[in-house]
Amino acid sequence: MSMNKIAYSMFIAFVASLGTLVSIQALSSSERDAADDDALDPITPEALAEHDGAESCWKAIDGRVYDITDYLPHHPTPEAVILEWCGKEASEAWHNKRPGVPHSPRAEGMLESYLIGRLVDEAGEPVEPEAAARIDESTDEAGNGEAADATARLSPAEDERLHRALLGLPLDGRYRGVFGDGGEMQVNVQFDLRDGVLSNVSYRHLAYRGVDYRALDEEDDLYPVWVQHQRLAEGLEGQPLTAIFALHEPERLAEDIDGYSGATLRGNKVHSAFRDALNRGVYSWP
Ligand code: HEM
Repeated sequence: MSMNKIAYSMFIAFVASLGTLVSIQALSSSERDAADDDALDPITPEALAEHDGAESCWKAIDGRVYDITDYLPHHPTPEAVILEWCGKEASEAWHNKRPGVPHSPRAEGMLESYLIGRLVDEAGEPVEPEAAARIDESTDEAGNGEAADATARLSPAEDERLHRALLGLPLDGRYRGVFGDGGEMQVNVQFDLRDGVLSNVSYRHLAYRGVDYRALDEEDDLYPVWVQHQRLAEGLEGQPLTAIFALHEPERLAEDIDGYSGATLRGNKVHSAFRDALNRGVYSWP
């Protein structure tokens, strides 16, 4: 495989990526009115596969088949980006035009105008997106299933995750990480990462020398320490991942409210917990 081809297939894998389950479930065929689909022409994966190019491009999305041949020249990306999915199960790509980002309602409306049928197996039963993806993956261009069998276990999204992980790039997802010292877990953070941006930053645990900061009352002398750390978390909200380096100078993220709290549980411990989370990898895909 040439470098160009590798780069290209990685780009495509990138487009067809993570965070998809929520959106796929939201639109899954099982939630649609089954009667609507019965009225549609049944189309098998084999018939679908015959329309795999610019001259005739069909795509299966959430159990339905669309003939988007006429739309190809109007799509706002280089044509190759969507040509790749002609003749295939394309639900995952559709729900992730960029990783974790589905197409707009306007695009959904357009898609419906290209509807031509429903995807069925040989027995005429509806084919769910995951099953159709397996058919695609186990069939190479010559229609020969053997060569591709070894990779059939990875969905495009998993494949993309593997690529990013191998390149050392952080994946979108939910992370958890800890900082401990002297036999005590002091910080446990949780955050979400999407397109390299932090959100939902919170502490699952924050303690020092036996004091559980999350359990303190407002009157408590050490309460400001908890407030200070919440401000650090808020300061990271919506920031690019690189903002965690500002934790080494916490005053960049949160004012020192009383002159001493900043010294008790430092930003660098929180930073360390973030780094631990990234080393561990994605905890879950919310
Ligand atoms: C299934 C494979 C497809 C892939 C991988 C794909 C990918 C993309 C990408 C990368 C963009 C530009 C990025 C962005 O707007 O943030 C985009 C935008 C768009 N695509 Fe697709 N696309 C696919 C299929 C389609 C189809 C079948 C239609 C319509 C029939 C469509 C309609 C649009 C529209 C209207 C936009 C503009 C942004 C929006 O409304 O979401 N795409 N797509």
